[in-house]
Order: sequence, then structure tokens, then C-alpha cells
Amino acid sequence: MRGWYNFVEQLKEVRLSEERPLFIPVILGTTRQGRLSEPVARLVFGELGKRTGVTTELIDIATLPLPTNDAGEAIKDPGFASGMDRADALVIVAPEYNHGYPGLLKHVLDSCLKEYIHKAVGIAGVSAGPFGGARGIENLLPVMRELGLATIFWDLNFGTVSDLFDASGNLRNQAFLPRIDQFLKELIWMATTLRYGREHVALN
Ligand SMILES: Cc1cc2nc3c(=O)[nH]c(=O)nc-3n(C[C@H](O)[C@H](O)[C@H](O)COP(=O)(O)O)c2cc1C
Repeated sequence: MRGWYNFVEQLKEVRLSEERPLFIPVILGTTRQGRLSEPVARLVFGELGKRTGVTTELIDIATLPLPTNDAGEAIKDPGFASGMDRADALVIVAPEYNHGYPGLLKHVLDSCLKEYIHKAVGIAGVSAGPFGGARGIENLLPVMRELGLATIFWDLNFGTVSDLFDASGNLRNQAFLPRIDQFLKELIWMATTLRYGREHVALN
């Protein structure tokens, strides 16, 4: 009987979370002029925006006024920090630069810390080469862990990115859509579960 009561209480919680949308911003992780990560970020942002129960925002790191003569929480930008604080999960769009990820992406991520803890993150890798930024993603994983973020087990890989979009930024290959769908389903599940945990499960 008690188990049934708990189950009903949990259902109520799930319904409550449906009334309070998840906030999942998409971070465009490069400042490079002519970056092809931008249509990728816009695509994922657009697909995320179609989900019920989710609000999103595109955060372009090129627009953040972070100085480069200091680092870490000393240069926290209030707008970025409040976005990270409100976020239930993140999508990071990271191009592969010399088998790593952009230094300025790390500079931006390093400006916050407690804001990320026990939140989900999914990574979309972008590359000129065929591996879809996989090497950059692998290098980001230990950073995510140190920031307290929980990575999902799906990535998105946009390889040979110069062939993927037309001149207007429209996706040429529709096969990416079911992959994005799978990725977002997992991210939303993780975001929902971790929000429940942050709000209801004590860290003893
Ligand atoms: C500094 C730098 C290093 C790069 N290194 C790689 C690389 O290791 N592997 C790769 O596939 N592409 C590499 N590229 C190409 C990018 O992946 C390519 O520009 C792609 O479009 C994604 O980056 P973007 O958003 O800046 O356009 C590099 C580009 C730059 C600017």
C-alpha cells in the first residue's frame, strides 16, 4: 500500500515538472569568423525548441564579454552565470580544433562552477574531417566531470560539416534528424531525473 502511495506521489511530481519546463540552453562553442558550428548549433537549438516541456536559448560564446587577462570565477559574466544557474541541462556544440576543443570554450566554461553541479550535458562535435569532432568530444569529457556535469551517453557527430548545410544554413541530409531526436530524448530524461534528484534527494 505504501509503495502505491509513493508511486502516486511520484506521478504528481512528474506532472508538476511538466508544468515547469526544463531550461536547456545550447552553447555555441567557438568565436571563429565563418564558423560552421553555427548552423549546427541553430539546428539543434531549433529541434530542442520543438519539444514540449522545454525552453531553450542559444548562447553564443562570441557575444560574452569575458576578459582574457584573467580566468576562472574571477571573470564570471552575470548573464552567463545566471543562465547556467537556471539550466537543467546543457548542449555544447564544440568544433574540433587540433583534436581538441576551442580554448575560448574552456575559458567560458571555467568562469562558472557550482552552477553546473548535478546537471546533464550532451555534446555535439563538429569537424571538417569525417569523425564528427569525436576527438574534441573525448577531450571535453574529463572537463565535464570536473565541472560536476553528468554527460549523457549519446553524442552528435557532424563530420565533413562543409557538406551538411546549403548556403542558407538548411540541413541537406535529413538522416541527422532521428539522431538528434534520440540525443534530445536522452538529454531530457537525464535533465528530468537530475532535477528530481537535486530537489528531493539529500546528499548525505
Ligand atoms: C585551429 C583549428 C584547428 C582545426 N583542427 C581540426 C582537426 O583537428 N580535425 C578536423 O577534422 N578539423 C579541424 N579543423 C577544422 C574545423 O573542424 C572546421 O573548421 C569545422 O568547420 C568546425 O569548426 P568551425 O565551427 O570553426 O567551422 C580545425 C580548424 C581550426 C580553426
